[in-house]
Amino acid sequence: MSSYLYHEGKAHAHQIIRRTNDRSPWRMLQSFLVSAITLTAATVAFAADDAPTKRVTIDQSIDQATLHRYHFTDQGTRLIPAAWLDALVDESGKRVMDPEALRRLGFLFDDVKDDVRNPYGWPIGFTVSDPKTTGGIPIAGLSCAACHTGQVEYKGTAVRIEGGQSMIDLAGWAENILGAIAALARDPARIAQFRADAVKAGYPADRIDQDLEAVVEAIKSLGGGPSFYEIHTVAAGRGRYDAVQAIGNQVFGGDLGVPANSYPLDAPVNYPQLWDIWRLSWLQFNGFLPPNSTSRNIGEALGVRAQTHIVDRRTGELNPEPLRWQTSVQLDNIIWIENTLKNLKAPSWPADVLGPIDQAKAERGHELFVANCAHCHQIRELPSGLWDVIVVPLREVGTDPGQALHWAGRTYDASKLGLGKQANAHQLNVAINAIRRQLYVDYKTPADEQEPDVHFAAPCGYKARPLIGVWATPPFLHNGSVRTVFDLLSDTRPGRFRFGSREYDPVHLGYTEDDGPDSMVLETSIAGNHNTGHWWTDDTKRPGRIGRKLTDDEKYALIEYLKSANYDNYPRNKVAKEQALPCANDKNWPKRFSIRPAK
Ligand code: HEC
Ligand code: HEC
Repeated sequence: MSSYLYHEGKAHAHQIIRRTNDRSPWRMLQSFLVSAITLTAATVAFAADDAPTKRVTIDQSIDQATLHRYHFTDQGTRLIPAAWLDALVDESGKRVMDPEALRRLGFLFDDVKDDVRNPYGWPIGFTVSDPKTTGGIPIAGLSCAACHTGQVEYKGTAVRIEGGQSMIDLAGWAENILGAIAALARDPARIAQFRADAVKAGYPADRIDQDLEAVVEAIKSLGGGPSFYEIHTVAAGRGRYDAVQAIGNQVFGGDLGVPANSYPLDAPVNYPQLWDIWRLSWLQFNGFLPPNSTSRNIGEALGVRAQTHIVDRRTGELNPEPLRWQTSVQLDNIIWIENTLKNLKAPSWPADVLGPIDQAKAERGHELFVANCAHCHQIRELPSGLWDVIVVPLREVGTDPGQALHWAGRTYDASKLGLGKQANAHQLNVAINAIRRQLYVDYKTPADEQEPDVHFAAPCGYKARPLIGVWATPPFLHNGSVRTVFDLLSDTRPGRFRFGSREYDPVHLGYTEDDGPDSMVLETSIAGNHNTGHWWTDDTKRPGRIGRKLTDDEKYALIEYLKSANYDNYPRNKVAKEQALPCANDKNWPKRFSIRPAK
């Protein structure tokens, strides 16, 4: 095993995390929580975002107060008691939730001081549960906005992109937390300090000794420090995560109590932009998911460690119903989030920060776009008002096959769910439907507000979504393997590039290559990181060719158009029905998969 994405000059070996079994610290922390009780009030210094020096806001049709609420709405993921997270220090004694450290991991901060929703002044996307839902102790979690809020920066001015691609290094953060927990377990002196800090941060003093002791004992019994079933054999780095595999591992491996069901995380993908998602006929990069938003968000929350009770953790046996399908997912909150996101509009180009648009050039780009791009990327409006997105077969688009191939091809022992020993990831819908129905019972949801059961597909391609606002979502392609739009429209692309900076390149549309201490290198010769496909070349034999070579003038015109693309000037067509998904009726396509993308 080796890691393919690394900090310059220093092997990023810590991205490889050993796989063991279900007794992860997370799990233990979760199970220990069951016995927790009331919280005393916690007040902690507020951390404001002060870098870069100035920030401008683009109107994306949601007011600031609603956005603020969205940034901190608990969807039901349950990581660790909030007071503990705030008190944790790393090996060197530094708080893992130190604002500066989090900023360096790519997290962004909200301006509003809010002792209720964000009592610890954490970055956007960190949540604290309502203690009524978690045995009296507020539990830290992650919400949508952690992964789906972006920012571009230019010469000292930051432009926040709500619903944009975040640049967080989530695996790096998780590793810090696990390292800190392991360091704590090893050292009695640290435990005394941690105890004091956690109580100061609000953890009930009359509970802390026994709760801590249980966790420390459990960690020690693991021997050799923290481990969990998320081995990143291709490091995700910033702005990426192999999210759907993580969900498969969590549900089939963790929640079913079958550790052998976990696969390496080796096809990391970008955090996609969230504007217009509710209208798309197919979601996720490979388009496996119809627009059943509650089901989608339940699946995602499970992947980010919502608490489940499918099996008894000690015996591995199925729990009786209804407990089996009860989870910590906050149904009312995910529905509120989803309704809120329906109002989110793509950001328009901030000319005052990034420079004016050359209208004549943009018009020429518009024509080129209609001629060369619209047949895949235009808005195809269905009678229902939804937008039918085309999923383009791998054979045609030729981009890295990992995400689509692993989803369709990897198998899991899901006998406990009655699905046999060779279940596919798309059969996750069985668990998700059961959990959703249970949520409706527990939340007393009226029948006419209930979403129908969802069926997942396993298409052999990637979706070509409408590109309004795409300028704001670098790097490009589903796996972030292309740094700029200019490179994406060219017939050669850099095989490796540094990334991590948010400094924007308004000429080529993308982030600049950053030289800072936190920059990483993306090496595209590695499976999972391939930057192939979507080629514009006159070499008609090249796999993944989708059009002729474009001149630099044409590329810059297309770029000018993409800067100006909006809901009024974007190509649109009415269509009577959805296009069929490629390979929708062919469950065996991964076995016959024979694309060998050119390097
Ligand atoms: C831990 C990070 C993380 C969190 C938290 C998260 N997402 Fe995502 N989300 C991702 C990643 C990564 C993908 C792409 C996965 C794929 O398709 O392979 C994704 C995909 C999506 C998509 C599909 C977009 C498209 O273009 O097809 C939607 C919609 C979405 N997320 C909405 C949400 C919502 C709403 C929440 C909160 C309820 C949420 N996400 C929480 C990381 C996250
Ligand atoms: C044959 C269909 C097809 C054509 C034609 C096409 N694209 Fe794409 N495009 C796709 C697909 C599919 C993806 C997603 C591929 C992936 O992520 O692996 C994509 C992705 C993109 C992305 C990256 C989106 C992101 O968020 O990362 C951009 C930008 C883009 N296309 C621009 C263009 C432009 C500009 C043209 C015309 C010059 C064009 N495309 C023509 C199918 C097409």
